[in-house]
Amino acid sequence: MRTVTLYIATSLDGFIAGPGGSLDFLESVQAAGEDYGYAAFTEGIDTVVVGRKTYASVLDMGVPYPHAGKHVFVYSKQLNTTADHTVVHSGPPADHVRELKCLPGKGIYCEGGADIAHQLLRAELIDRIVLSIIPVHLHAGVELFPTGELPPGWLAQDRIVYPSGLIQTTYLKA
Ligand SMILES: NC(=O)c1ccc[n+]([C@@H]2O[C@H](COP(=O)([O-])OP(=O)(O)OC[C@H]3O[C@@H](n4cnc5c(N)ncnc54)[C@H](OP(=O)(O)O)[C@@H]3O)[C@@H](O)[C@H]2O)c1
Repeated sequence: MRTVTLYIATSLDGFIAGPGGSLDFLESVQAAGEDYGYAAFTEGIDTVVVGRKTYASVLDMGVPYPHAGKHVFVYSKQLNTTADHTVVHSGPPADHVRELKCLPGKGIYCEGGADIAHQLLRAELIDRIVLSIIPVHLHAGVELFPTGELPPGWLAQDRIVYPSGLIQTTYLKA
């Protein structure tokens, strides 16, 4: 069965975006030649599952769509169509991802945001979490975990501390 990885970054106080959906905090760890393992990670996946709000924020970045050439499923009850490279899915993400996991292929990337991640975590469909913590406090915005911490049942397998201060931990199910 294919594995689903939630690969996501938070502030020190657990926000994946600041007020108004701002992602400016990510800039504090941008460094030439350092992608924090992202390119290697995306080589192992061929499918991206993403909530409509995160998809919109990626388009707003004004760069070429980063997942062109992969199977991209955007969850939305209000979008009818997106660009050619994606498919809109209006049903429950968990039901859909459960089906995707049974199809042949490479890994599945849960790009977020918090809403979609929660739904997949609740349904026990996430196999691995790669959590990058950015050394910045945001105080408000979109929280990744409502309790402020990882749900029970996950064990840290690997931790990398980067010179920028970013700490990336890979968690697997206990
Ligand atoms: N720091 C990071 O690494 C990172 C990563 C990802 C995202 N983000 C940020 O997180 C924010 C977005 O996160 P979010 O949690 O607010 O939203 P989200 O998970 O990206 O998207 C939520 C949307 O998904 C759709 N959806 C949810 N349940 C559904 C269902 N049962 N059936 C069909 N569609 C469903 C709905 O779209 P409709 O309203 O269209 O129906 C809902 O509004 C953005 O600011 C983004 O930039 C940050």
